Amino acid sequence: MIKLGIIGWRGLVGSVFLNRIKNSFINKHCEIFLFSTNKILIKNNVFNAFDTKILLNMNILVCCQGSDYTKNILKKIKTKKWKGYWIDSSSFLRMNNESLIVLDPLNKNLINKSLKNKKFFAGANCTVSLALLLFKNFLNLNLIEWISSSSYQAISGAGSKLISETIGEINSTKNLQTNLLSLEKSIKLSFNKKIPMVFNAKPWIDKKVNFGQTKEEWKSSSEASKILGEKINIDSNCVRITSLRCHSQYFLFKIKKNLHLNNIYEILNDKYVYLVKNDENHSKNILTPYNVCGKLKIFAGRIKKSLFDNKIFSLFSVGDQLLWGAAEPIKRFTEILLN
Ligand code: HSE
Repeated sequence: MIKLGIIGWRGLVGSVFLNRIKNSFINKHCEIFLFSTNKILIKNNVFNAFDTKILLNMNILVCCQGSDYTKNILKKIKTKKWKGYWIDSSSFLRMNNESLIVLDPLNKNLINKSLKNKKFFAGANCTVSLALLLFKNFLNLNLIEWISSSSYQAISGAGSKLISETIGEINSTKNLQTNLLSLEKSIKLSFNKKIPMVFNAKPWIDKKVNFGQTKEEWKSSSEASKILGEKINIDSNCVRITSLRCHSQYFLFKIKKNLHLNNIYEILNDKYVYLVKNDENHSKNILTPYNVCGKLKIFAGRIKKSLFDNKIFSLFSVGDQLLWGAAEPIKRFTEILLN
């Protein structure tokens, strides 16, 4: 039986991964070993995630623990010439030459080739997987000139700490007076000069890199190009908002030939995409992060042709950042590995 170790299974991505493999043949083919970095949890069926001896015994390790852990442990494991496969959800391995970013609906061919000579695999950044899946057919038809995206990213993308902080902020406003004029002042006082997440939007995610970009924005073009095996122009602006699980993205995209709006719908139509009618009712009720939570399709709506350029279109999309944005590509790659 294949030994599959899972590190970081209690975290947001790890627990979704664990849940997703319940009904997969992964469960039948593999003996599952859970690893933890938390000493209190290490007993009976939970193994020490720093114990390289046990890790080296695994055929496959799925790591959802974060970049620092991967950096530290992988270095140790590599010196021991481990024969297994490492599948990672963090960004640490993504741009490394020794690894491939996996998103099989887009790069199954690259995956098949890499299985012959690579041992390290990573899931892409959430907004990247969600965007590429949405534009899959346009990319296959080589229709994309460029994509400009503006994201509205869920608090879960920043980890459970931001979720707890935001819920704390919501609770702290519970007993405030509801007179509209004084409400804003009381809310400001209740947050005690701290800039809250709730009632807010923060247009900065991750570290600063070059050209005024954040690392989250830089990932769009660089990770997408690596997944596709060729350069794709994606310019991004990433904003944190208070939705819980779903990242939304507004896309402006230029295509290489003149197409009618109906053609855009036809090309977007795909088993991974749910097309939403461009009207008030559908947009307000279906095309929302709240509605898309827990769903596997990428929802796309508000599809329009630009008023000033026939080859530019825009749309609004919503996808669950813990499913297709994180756990799903890794789960599907594990299945490919076992096949
Ligand atoms: N980097 C992403 C974010 C995490 O901050 O939202 C993946 O969802």
